[in-house]
Amino acid sequence: MSSVKSDYENLQNTHQQEASSLKSSITSLICSKSGLQAQLDATQLLVESLKEEIKQLTKMKADKENENERLLKNIANLESKLLAEESARRKLHNVIQELKGNIRVFCRMRPALSEELKNGIQLASITTADNKIIEVNQMGDVGMNDSGKAQKKYEFSFDAVFPPSASQQEIFEEISQLVQSAIDEYNVCIFAYGQTGSGKTYTMEGPENIIDFSAPLDHESHLGMIPRSVKKIFKCLRDLEPRGWKYRVETFFLEIYNERIQDLLNSDSVSGNAKCEIIKSGGKGNDCLLSNVTTSTVSCAEDVYNLLKKARINRAVAATKCNEYSSRSHYVFQLKIYGENSLTDEKCEGILNLVDLAGSERIKDSGSAGDRLTEAKAINKSLSNLGKVIMSLSKKENHVPYRYSKLTHLLASSLGVFWNQMWG
Ligand SMILES: Nc1ncnc2c1ncn2[C@@H]1O[C@H](COP(=O)(O)OP(=O)(O)O)[C@@H](O)[C@H]1O
Ligand SMILES: [Mg+2]
Repeated sequence: MSSVKSDYENLQNTHQQEASSLKSSITSLICSKSGLQAQLDATQLLVESLKEEIKQLTKMKADKENENERLLKNIANLESKLLAEESARRKLHNVIQELKGNIRVFCRMRPALSEELKNGIQLASITTADNKIIEVNQMGDVGMNDSGKAQKKYEFSFDAVFPPSASQQEIFEEISQLVQSAIDEYNVCIFAYGQTGSGKTYTMEGPENIIDFSAPLDHESHLGMIPRSVKKIFKCLRDLEPRGWKYRVETFFLEIYNERIQDLLNSDSVSGNAKCEIIKSGGKGNDCLLSNVTTSTVSCAEDVYNLLKKARINRAVAATKCNEYSSRSHYVFQLKIYGENSLTDEKCEGILNLVDLAGSERIKDSGSAGDRLTEAKAINKSLSNLGKVIMSLSKKENHVPYRYSKLTHLLASSLGVFWNQMWG
């Protein structure tokens, strides 16, 4: 009995212990359940607030998308307005050019050269007034006034006069608007006219020692109108690309010597072995067809500078055959610009001619013989015919004598020709 009782007590103890440990487990489970419930509640709150945030962000995104769409429409509107404005600007630009005068004459006086100063060469005394008039006081035995000064005065007026201090950049500012017109479908001719030594080649190309036109810094301020125009044109063409314009630019370099056209990019032509002829000029549009002339397609200013260099070298080769050769020939640089706009379906075609004319001094026919006489006749003929052409254009005459010299015949379509004037 006593051992059964003790077993029973032991069992009872064990059960009590188990019951109390189970109780404490239940209590701790209840505790952790309520902890988890609190966590779940918090998480649910977080999810709710995140859901709200997502809703707001989605709304914001939709708003932004609407705003973007509106802005894109706005940009497209502005772009089409810009294209229309650009077309209007081009027209107005050319109206301004026409109002300024289709034929303009500028006078540039070069500074005295150091050798002239050193050798005490007496220079003409020239005064300017109003930046448009020059007064040349003739020196020498024309009769002196009381103060011993020459009294004979000649007055000439121009559209603009540039004093000896004027820089290449100042000259270019005056003509750069005309260069722009060539991009806007106009045909432009710029001539340098004057006696040998007056600064024509310096103005058009730069000083004699410039060979590399890609503007090494110490030469840049001396660069003439040709490299400056080329640089400006390619910059303008690049700026117009985003507005839908695509361009093709062609160029040639010619020389007219004794009424013969020579291609300065072809050494056979310069040596007289290949004959260049005008097949057609002054037709409808801008076509001027030449045989045996190298027309190069150029895509940047450097392309043209390289050709300019080649032309200069070929011209120098020709020069060894004849004394003062370069002042006895006309040098014609032409850029033809073809443009097409894929956005507006516009097309344009313009020409820029920069011409360094033969020296305008009169070579006295009497006393000249042989080659000199031929040269003198050729220069007199072409310069006086250029004068006649410009005169009849300024008087709007029906007949313009383009065909009486190679220079004006070559440039007919750029000087303002109409089909019936040439062939009618
Ligand atoms: N504006 C100028 N500034 C400095 N030198 C000049 C200027 N114009 C001309 N010269 C110099 O005068 C000389 C004659 O000029 P050049 O252009 O060869 O004359 P042209 O071509 O009319 O015969 C050259 O040595 C040239 O460098
Ligand atoms: Mg010259």
